[in-house]
Amino acid sequence: MDHFGLVDGELHAEQVPLAAIAREVGTPVYVYSRATLSRHAQVFREALSALPRVHIAFAVKSNPNLAVLRLLANEGYGADVVSEGEMNRALAAGMKAQDIVFSGVGKTRAELAAALRAGIGQFNLESEEEGVELSAIAQSLDARATCTLRVNPDVDARTHAKISTGKAENKFGVAYDRAAGIYARLAGLPGLEMRGLAVHIGSQISDLEPSRQAFVRMGALMEELRAGGHTVSHMDLGGGLGVPYKAGDALPTPADYGRMVAEVARDWDVTLMFEPGRVITGNSGVLVTEVVRVKQGTGNPWVVVDAAMNDLARPAMYDAWHDFAAVKPTGEAMTANIVGPICESSDTFAMAREIDAVKAGELAVFRTAGAYGATMANTYNSRALVPEVMVDGEKWAIVANRIEPAAILAAEQVPDWLR
Ligand code: LLP
Repeated sequence: MDHFGLVDGELHAEQVPLAAIAREVGTPVYVYSRATLSRHAQVFREALSALPRVHIAFAVKSNPNLAVLRLLANEGYGADVVSEGEMNRALAAGMKAQDIVFSGVGKTRAELAAALRAGIGQFNLESEEEGVELSAIAQSLDARATCTLRVNPDVDARTHAKISTGKAENKFGVAYDRAAGIYARLAGLPGLEMRGLAVHIGSQISDLEPSRQAFVRMGALMEELRAGGHTVSHMDLGGGLGVPYKAGDALPTPADYGRMVAEVARDWDVTLMFEPGRVITGNSGVLVTEVVRVKQGTGNPWVVVDAAMNDLARPAMYDAWHDFAAVKPTGEAMTANIVGPICESSDTFAMAREIDAVKAGELAVFRTAGAYGATMANTYNSRALVPEVMVDGEKWAIVANRIEPAAILAAEQVPDWLR
């Protein structure tokens, strides 16, 4: 459920007409709904309420905007970060260092040291090598690193190959069969406190069965470690729950997910940790765009919009579907190809799609763009970095400025020897 809907025939974010935002800020622009974000944060938490000890670390990568992070900090969420930059955002948003989890296969020594100095709550180690390095850094800083070991359970998440992370051939975590040995060795290193296991098998997961299988395997590994005399007080089950992108898509709800987790993990006697991203932010944002022109084709007309693959990369990267809707629908429909202005054919949002009829100069939105939208934007074709707005009831505010091409140009220089 979200708070983007028609009021008097015109698409609004909560009580604010999207056309009013577009008029003042220009297009393309991302618009987030505070009520939707809060609701998703609460629904996800409630879905886990049958479990005794839960820590939720929002996957910052899905939407790292400072205002979004502050809102989630206010909802009691911690953060799952994958770089020093994300860590500093979470801290700047007011999240407590203790509530931050550091994931990622390529944390550098400098990042590990910075995270130790900041006093973050947990490192999810992705290899034995990383644990050995972290132990040395912790000793040199006279610090102690609280860690889990990320395990690759070799389960197929049945999602898009590019966002699947839990198969043996993926780069993430340590092999399931080697995990107990690695855990034992890392537990013996000075400066490290091994307190549990972590798993994350993929994103936009639309079927709970692979996650259930992965969690069952993790439970067995937990028992094996405990039988070997090791402490396992924390189990991090990652993120990955998908969201509906098309009207009519039936996906498991947070409540379904919570029931499945409770069934598998009820008797684990651990703090369960979660790293949701998309399920919190996905439906909380739209990308507002203006139709530049409608160009006749040999087949369907081309609706050329002023948003492009640099603003919303998901269709180009993963053939992802985002619903397209007119801001002032007339009730008429057309079948069209929707494309951006970038000079490559991958800058295509939809082919042969039945959409609201639109004309040059009219506004439209791509829906479900709150996750992996603005955060993946770039400036390809020397375009601006897309701005972001948050709406709250009748109020709205710019939460990220448009970075103009001139500002990016100003950071470049020609060396003397080329003059
Ligand atoms: N935890 C870890 C360790 C992750 O790698 C991810 C996502 C998450 C949590 C959050 O997953 P979520 O709940 O959002 O599914 N750019 C792609 C998605 C990449 C996901 C990367 N990892 C897309 O636009 O679909």
